[in-house]
Amino acid sequence: MERTYLMIKPDAVQRGLIGEIVSRFEKKGFKLVAMKFLRLTKEMAEKHYAEHVGKPFFAGLVEYIISGPVVAMCWEGKDVVTVSREMMGATNPAKAAPGTIRGTFAVDIGRNVIHGSDSPESAERELAIYFDSCEFVEWDRSVQAWIV
Ligand code: PPS
Repeated sequence: MERTYLMIKPDAVQRGLIGEIVSRFEKKGFKLVAMKFLRLTKEMAEKHYAEHVGKPFFAGLVEYIISGPVVAMCWEGKDVVTVSREMMGATNPAKAAPGTIRGTFAVDIGRNVIHGSDSPESAERELAIYFDSCEFVEWDRSVQAWIV
């Protein structure tokens, strides 16, 4: 099953949006398989955004992403990479459709609430930055025998 890396960014953590954002992916039907609350080091941030080194926004992006804690997550499901990016909305919140996460909660491209991998290959690369292989939890959502 496909996996993606999603990260609730510092602005969303500061604004108390963790539950709201996690809830959207749970309700959609995706499965959470790893989750971590952490503050990125500069080295981690530069590794994560390595493909953007040299772009005018790179320094500001790194400064922003290390400015406070984030929620690092691995979600699993059918077409989760593409569908989660649809749920997030456009990178620039000014262009994000109403109802999407960024369209609902963000106005500034430099404070756009959430990150999501742009391909399964990027997901594998990004997940390896945040999680050891033993941190992906195998579990079955269909086992609900304890609910009467
Ligand atoms: S690019 O140049 O098209 O590859 O960049 P893009 O995919 O649109 O964005 C890559 C990440 O950089 C962030 N970004 C910015 N941050 C601050 N200011 C500006 N102007 C800016 N432009 C892009 C953008 O949110 C992307 O971060 P992630 O975490 O991947 O969403």
